[in-house]
Amino acid sequence: MIIMKTKVARLTKKNWMTVIKEAADVIKAGGIVAFPTETVYGLGANALDEEAVKKIFVAKGRPQDNPLIIHVADKDITQYVKEIPPIAKQLIDAFWPGPLTIIFKKTNLIPDVTSANLNTIGIRMPNHPIALELIKSSGVPIAAPSANLSGKPSPTTLEHCIRDLDGRVDYILGGTISEVGLESTIIDCTVYPPVVLRPGGITLEQLQLFDHNIYLTTPYDLKDETPKSPGMKYRHYAPIAPLYLINEEDSMEQKINMLCHKYVEEGKKVGILAPDETKDLYNANAFIYTLGSRENLLEVGQNLYQGLRQMDEEEVDLILCETFPETGLGIAIMNRLKKASSKK
Ligand code: TXA
Ligand code: MG
Repeated sequence: MIIMKTKVARLTKKNWMTVIKEAADVIKAGGIVAFPTETVYGLGANALDEEAVKKIFVAKGRPQDNPLIIHVADKDITQYVKEIPPIAKQLIDAFWPGPLTIIFKKTNLIPDVTSANLNTIGIRMPNHPIALELIKSSGVPIAAPSANLSGKPSPTTLEHCIRDLDGRVDYILGGTISEVGLESTIIDCTVYPPVVLRPGGITLEQLQLFDHNIYLTTPYDLKDETPKSPGMKYRHYAPIAPLYLINEEDSMEQKINMLCHKYVEEGKKVGILAPDETKDLYNANAFIYTLGSRENLLEVGQNLYQGLRQMDEEEVDLILCETFPETGLGIAIMNRLKKASSKK
C-alpha cells in the first residue's frame, strides 16, 4: 500500500498550459504522472531515468519482467534505436502520431529497467494534443504503460485513473475520454516478416497494405513459456466478476437470455454487455451496458473498458457478453474480451 499525495488536475481550455507545465516539472523531477492518450490513459515517467521508471512498476503492481513502451513527440527516434528497417520507416510515416507501437533494437540510452532487460524497445507517438505537449514540455521520452492497477481494465477516463491510482502517483491529469479506447497495436519490426504482437487501433488489414507478409501472433497461447511480448502471459483487462463470451452465431440472444434467466433465478446479479441492436431484447432484471452499434466497431472499442469497469461498479456476480466478428477492429475487441474472460 503506497500512500502519497496525488494532485489531480481536470483540464480546461483555460488551465491546460499551466497544468501541462506543472506535470512536465513532475516528470523532469523523476516523478510519475497519469495522462490521457488517444488509446488509453498512460502512467508516465522519464524513460531515461531508471529510478523514475521503477516507481511505475511499484505504483501499478506490475511484474518487473514486463517492458514499457516509450512515447515520443517527434518521428526522429534515431537516438533510441540501433536501426530503422525500411518497413518501420513506412509505418512511422503512415501511422504516427497514432495507435501503433513499433518494436526496435534499442540503444544503450534506454535503461534496462524500461525495457525489462530486453534488447528491444517499443516506441509510439501518441495522437493526442495533451500527451504530445507533455512529452515536449518534459523534454524527454516518456515511458508509460496503461494507467491501471496491474490486471484491471485499462483506463479510458480521468475517473478510472483516480480510482486505481489516487495515493499511488504524483499527478493525474486529463478530462476527456480516450477515443480509441483500446491499447495501441504492437508490431515487432526487429524480425522479418514483421509480426503483430498485440492487435489494436491500427488493424492488420491496414498494416498489410504495406507488406502483405505481416501477420498476427496467436495471441492467447498461455502455454508458451517465453511469449514474444512478455505482457501476453498475464491475465489482463479483467473485471472482478467472471465474464462469459457467448459465441452462438445465430442464437446469441436466446443463449444469453436463457443463461440470464437461470442465474437470476439463482439470486445472482447478472451484467450483460450488448450492442445497440440487441440491448432491448434482454431480461430487464439484468444490468445492461450498451457498447454501441455492431455497425460501428469504433464505438464498441471506445466503450469496452468503460463497460467492464461499470460492471465492477455495479457489483454484478457475472457478466454475459456478445461476441463480434474477428475482422478489422473486431480482432482487437475480441482479443481484449478473450483476455478478460474466464474461459481461456
Ligand atoms: O496504447 C498503448 O500502447 C498504451 C498507451 C498508454 O500508450 N500503453 C500500453 O502499455 O498499453 P502497456 O505497458 O499496458 O502494454 C505494453 C505491452 C505489454 O504487453 C508489453 O509486454 C509489450 O507491450 N511490450 C513492451 N515492450 C516490448 C518489447 N520490447 N517487446 C515485446 N513486447 C513489448
Ligand atoms: Mg496495460
